[in-house]
This record gives sequence, structure tokens and C-alpha cells, in this order.
Amino acid sequence: MASSSSLSLHLLLLFAILAILATLIESKPTFQLPGASFYKSSFKQAKAPKPKIPYTAYYFPQVLDHFTFHPKSSKIFYQKYLINSHYWHKGGPIFVYTGNEGHIEWFAANTGFLLDIAPKFKALLVFIEHRFYGESMPFGKDSYKSAETLGYLNSQQALADYAVLIRSLKHNLSSESSPVVVFGGSYGGIATNEYVCVCFHVINKIYFSAGQLDASMNCYEVIKGSWAELDALSVQKEGLTELSKIFRTCKDLHSADSALDWLWEAFVYTAMVNYPTEANFMKPLPAYPVQQARLLQMAMCKIIDGMPPETTKLRRAIAGASLYYNYSQTEKCFEIEHGADVHVLSGWNWQACTEMIMPMTCSNKSMFPPSGFDYKDVERIELALKRFGSNIIFSNGMQDPWSRGGVLKNISSSIIALVTKKGAHHVDFRFETKDDPDWLVELRRQEVDIIQKWIHEYYADVRQGIVSQCCRSSDL
Ligand SMILES: *[C@@H]1O[C@H](CO)[C@@H](O)[C@H](O)[C@H]1NC(C)=O
Ligand SMILES: *[C@@H]1O[C@H](CO)[C@@H](O)[C@H](O)[C@H]1NC(C)=O
Ligand SMILES: *[C@@H]1O[C@H](CO)[C@@H](O)[C@H](O)[C@H]1NC(C)=O
Ligand SMILES: *[C@@H]1O[C@H](CO)[C@@H](O)[C@H](O)[C@H]1NC(C)=O
Repeated sequence: MASSSSLSLHLLLLFAILAILATLIESKPTFQLPGASFYKSSFKQAKAPKPKIPYTAYYFPQVLDHFTFHPKSSKIFYQKYLINSHYWHKGGPIFVYTGNEGHIEWFAANTGFLLDIAPKFKALLVFIEHRFYGESMPFGKDSYKSAETLGYLNSQQALADYAVLIRSLKHNLSSESSPVVVFGGSYGGIATNEYVCVCFHVINKIYFSAGQLDASMNCYEVIKGSWAELDALSVQKEGLTELSKIFRTCKDLHSADSALDWLWEAFVYTAMVNYPTEANFMKPLPAYPVQQARLLQMAMCKIIDGMPPETTKLRRAIAGASLYYNYSQTEKCFEIEHGADVHVLSGWNWQACTEMIMPMTCSNKSMFPPSGFDYKDVERIELALKRFGSNIIFSNGMQDPWSRGGVLKNISSSIIALVTKKGAHHVDFRFETKDDPDWLVELRRQEVDIIQKWIHEYYADVRQGIVSQCCRSSDL
């Protein structure tokens, strides 16, 4: 980062890129599939993870509002961040993970990549929690109370938080000229991406829509056919009672929509985390949970394909979805409508409604009920990137349903798209394991090489007194 530039300039730069993104967002028609609100209930039955991670937690006095001068603006809240300095050599790079919609330990535990590569880079690792998630609640328990409080939950404020915190940290460590490499996955990646202009070197995953399961034809047809059966049942007298029974809900359903969301979540998330090794990101799941798990009863489509054809499609779909919710085999019944939000994700609904471009689109060939959205407008993001961006890796796995909205083409020599056919949702961020397939090993190797190259360039620039390749004032 440019050590000579002032904080206010940084905020100005942030603002510049955000203004562009805001325009993109405003020009979008918003389209809501039932599943568009699915994040809200996504982690219901997961046991809250208590990962053992080699980080120390700190709390930074953060300002509530970086952009206005209302009486409340200067209120301070404590923003949590995690540090691992074990591998760091002073002056070495600082790897920052910009938190997303959940408590920060959860992401730290699922982003082993940083720990794996820290020794090679002698890097300091910093995971910063996103405001309004985990413990970083500006108004404590009342944070989600109303728009009065939630108004301070937006990506501009979050980005400014990160900038202020990183700057303070660098100052405190007397490491102002250390290069900062920012990592983000999923929403955290979108946020990271908005840093482009501040000349952080960035790794990013950006995502938007639609689904592709690496599944059997029968599995596809069963799931595709299950929606109409669900619809038909839901309009019958006593339909909800019947649905509660076949979905094995803990309490009677109030609406068939929640049953639909429940199925939707299971299919979308299992595809998203179709990792080549056993993992516990959204929920505990075996390796390749969609189709290829080693054991018959451990893959969603094997379960569906293995059921007698006279079983209704809906029941088969539910059996498949149950793998996602009950891989632990400990669920007595399913909390479809009243689950606890163990990852404290409720703030996500607010964000998804206010500023995220997260349309879901499904053609009538999709296994999900069809719905439309035109991507053409979204492509303008490439223009913005071309003009303002540098040093970004967009990594997308095509198994990940979100990949369809990702940046899948190289945009310039320093805005690089790495696309893996078999990759799932930020699979490259996970700890390496001995079972990793070759393509994954290769993907991570490529990422490490690119980061290394950029860091070398940065140090070379610093030696020559050139501070960076970030935005010039003429770009504003
Ligand atoms: C830097 O030091 C100041 C003064 O001790 C402290 O208030 C602040 O929290 C520190 N910054 C970080 C990121 O820890
Ligand atoms: C979860 O799995 C266990 C073991 O297979 C089974 O006994 C239980 O009924 C399942 N729970 C639900 C709600 O289907
Ligand atoms: C699916 O969509 C295409 C293109 O919009 C349309 O031509 C076709 O008739 C649709 N098929 C069905 C079965 O609805
Ligand atoms: C982008 O360029 C890199 C080389 O810099 C290459 O490895 C990668 O495959 C390219 N990505 C795409 C999507 O073509």
C-alpha cells in the first residue's frame, strides 16, 4: 500500500470504486427466487463450530460511521480481528482476510490456505471480522433491531473499517511499507474486490448465480420433478400437515415455501461445497457429496438414484437433501422454520436486500423452478475492473453454482481469472490435504506464483521509490 498517501485519500479512493458499483447495483432489476433469502436459514442445524485455530483475538476501537458527521458517527465499537505472527518476519507481507457474513473464526478455520503459505512468504496473517457479524456488533444485541442500527451495515462502511484497521496495524507494527495481500472468499471476495482501487493486491472470488450439479440424469430429473409435486401437495387440504410429515419437521410447517427453501438450500449448498475431501464448511459432508462419495449412502445423487422408482420424486428429493442436513446422523427431526442462526448470519438478509447483486437465474432446463434475469448489465463490472483494477486473481470453480456470475475471463495481465472445471466454492482456500487432486494442487501453486511475482514487483517498486500501481488521481 502506498505509505505516503493519506487516510482520507484512501477513503476517497474507496468511495470512487464503490460509487461505480453502486450504480451497477441500482440499474439492476432485483429478482427474488424463493431461495434468494436462503442465506437466512442456512446454518440452522450445524453445531456451532469451535475450531481450534492458531490465532490470537484482538479488538480494535472502530468508528461507527466513516462517511458522515451525525452525532452518532463517532461512536466506537470493538471490531474483532485475529492475528498469527508465527511466520512473520518484520517487513514481510501482511496477508489480510476480509471477513464475510459470519463470525471470523469460522472463516479462519476454513481458510487454511493462508496458514499453509505463510511460512513461504514469511507473512503476517490477519483475519478481520466484518461489522455486524460475530462479536463485532456496533449496538450489541440491538444491532439488528431496526434500520436505525442496520443502516450502518453496508459494504462501504465495512471496507473503510478494513482500511482503517490495516493502516493502524501497520503503523503499530512500524511496517508501513509491507505489502498487503488481501484475500476474500464469496461475499468477502466481493468486498475484497472493491479494494482494487486502493492498490491492495487481491485474491478474490466473486459470485452470483444459477446451478450446475455434477449429477446423474435420473438425479436431475427427480429433483426437477419434485417441485411440481411439492406445489401440488401444498394446495391440498391438510397439505401442510402431510408435508410436515414427509419432511420430518420438528414443528408443523406454516408455509410450503419454507419446505421449498429447505430443499433448495440443500441442493445449492451441496453443489457449492462439493469438495474433493471431507469438509465442514456449511455443514459436515463427505468428499464429493453430490455424486461420487465413496460410500453409497454418502452421496446425494446416489441416495436419490438408489431409491425405488415408485417412490414419489418429492420423497426421493427429500431423502437426497437429508444427506446435507443429517450427515451427522444425529438429527431426530428437521427444524425447517425455527432453526437457530448459529453463525449469527441474520445481518446477511439486510445486506442482500440493500446492496448485493445476487439475482438467481434458472432456465427451464435447470433442475430448479425456472426464473429469469439478464446478465448483460452485470458484465459492465468488467469495464469497471479494466479501468480501475490491478493485481487481482479471480478464482472460480465451475462446480460452484455461484461461479456463473464470476469473472471467468482474463481481463488484463494483472487481472487474472483462474477457472477450474472441478472446483467448488473457494476450495483453494481450504487447508491442503494429502488427498487433494492434482488440479487443486496446481491451482494453488499458480496462485502462490502470482502472489510471489506481485510481491517481488512491489518490493522492486519500493526500492525505486515508485509506490504502486494503484489509482491515479486522473482515474477519479
Ligand atoms: C494500535 O495502537 C493503538 C494505540 O495503542 C490502539 O488503540 C489500536 O487498537 C492499535 N491498532 C490495532 C489495529 O491493533
Ligand atoms: C438422521 O439419520 C439417522 C441415522 O440414519 C436416522 O435415524 C434419523 O431418522 C435421521 N433423521 C431424520 C430427521 O431424517
Ligand atoms: C423453455 O424456454 C424456451 C426459451 O425461452 C422456450 O422456447 C421453450 O418453449 C420452453 N420450454 C418449456 C417446456 O417451457
Ligand atoms: C488467464 O491467464 C493465466 C496465465 O496468466 C492462465 O493460466 C489462465 O488459464 C487464464 N485464464 C483463463 C480463464 O483463460
